[in-house]
Amino acid sequence: MAGNKKTILITGVSRGLGRAMTEEFIRLGHTVIGCGRSEKAIAELTMQFPAPNDFAVVDVASDEQVAAWAKRILSSHGAPDLVLNNAALINRNAPLWEIPPKEFSDVIDVNVKGVVNVIRHFVPAMVERRAGIIVNFSSGWGRSADAEVAPYCATKWAIEGLTNSLSQELPSGMAAVPLNPGIIDTDMLRSCFGGSSSIYPAPSLWARAAVPFLLKINAADNGRQLTAPCG
Ligand SMILES: NC(=O)c1ccc[n+]([C@@H]2O[C@H](COP(=O)([O-])OP(=O)(O)OC[C@H]3O[C@@H](n4cnc5c(N)ncnc54)[C@H](OP(=O)(O)O)[C@@H]3O)[C@@H](O)[C@H]2O)c1
Repeated sequence: MAGNKKTILITGVSRGLGRAMTEEFIRLGHTVIGCGRSEKAIAELTMQFPAPNDFAVVDVASDEQVAAWAKRILSSHGAPDLVLNNAALINRNAPLWEIPPKEFSDVIDVNVKGVVNVIRHFVPAMVERRAGIIVNFSSGWGRSADAEVAPYCATKWAIEGLTNSLSQELPSGMAAVPLNPGIIDTDMLRSCFGGSSSIYPAPSLWARAAVPFLLKINAADNGRQLTAPCG
């Protein structure tokens, strides 16, 4: 890390909050390592933001894909300063008994196992350096619940719990925190709120306030349940 310029790893950079954070961190002079499943979006980001930024098609639900990504990135960029476990899915609005098994599994595989896959393959290098911050994206629905989003709520409550455990395992100097980003007008919000999502801030506006907040998270925050300022 040169000066105060950081290497920031973000999952789910193809759209929504991940895309907006990518653009804002790079605008501020930081290096972003990002992934998503959309080949088109990853190719666009690679054209728009050349090296040392690095964008790759990686499905975080695949432990093998995350392992290969981590091996490559750790040797080219070293351990990241900040890991943002942002990628997630939400179920289509429906009562729990109507959610098909595959849909339930997909939400768990990305939102819980995907976060753990990233932790498994990137955090040992951070622990070795005894430095770095891990931010696991939670939700208002990781601290409360509503009808028709039970699979998503289950995963975000899981994120709160596993992050609290992780925070007690890290050496001093590091931090792991769950972050409720607030309510932002993204594809995910439109899936559950429909047309009323347009009253909430756009991701780019949110990122202007959230990115400086993320850059200030430090070891003193370890284990704290954080909420991002809304744009
Ligand atoms: N928007 C809100 O109001 C809100 C509120 C509370 C919490 N959150 C949380 O904030 C985070 C970002 O949400 P968002 O609203 O930006 O969602 P979004 O617009 O749906 O974007 C989700 C991102 O995750 C990526 N992704 C999904 N599955 C993936 C996988 N298996 N591997 C890699 N990338 C994957 C998607 O890209 P690909 O499809 O290309 O893979 C996309 O870039 C999530 O953790 C969400 O739960 C959002």
